[in-house]
Amino acid sequence: MKKVITGTVVSLAMLGLASVAQAAGGQKVYQDACFACHGTGAAGAPKLEKSAWGDRLEKGKDTLYDHAINGFKAMPAKGGRADLSDADVKAAVDYMLTEVE
Ligand code: HEC
Repeated sequence: MKKVITGTVVSLAMLGLASVAQAAGGQKVYQDACFACHGTGAAGAPKLEKSAWGDRLEKGKDTLYDHAINGFKAMPAKGGRADLSDADVKAAVDYMLTEVE
């Protein structure tokens, strides 16, 4: 019995670590690849302020992912970082949305 409990605790701890790592990943990608515009409003990029995102949030997350990955008007595909995976870009969008929601 003790063994089962230990196993459960270990796997819960690993799950916890995995989600922390994911969140940190999104923030890191944002800082590396998105902040230059979205932190400053350069090129008319929406800053991480709720007022800049109201209409955009209404498009739904899938559209925002799509626009971040494939580009949208002055928003370059993947922020111009073709080396990023789609998952990296989605994580960055998730991070941005948690900041403005
Ligand atoms: C070269 C500047 C620049 C960089 C770098 C950049 N963006 Fe943008 N982004 C923009 C601009 C400008 C817009 C506004 C486009 C419009 O609506 O006219 C935008 C809009 C967006 C939107 C909203 C799209 C919509 O449908 O309203 C998302 C989501 C987004 N960017 C995500 C990201 C992510 C994630 C990164 C980093 C991987 C990133 N951007 C990097 C300039 C940039």
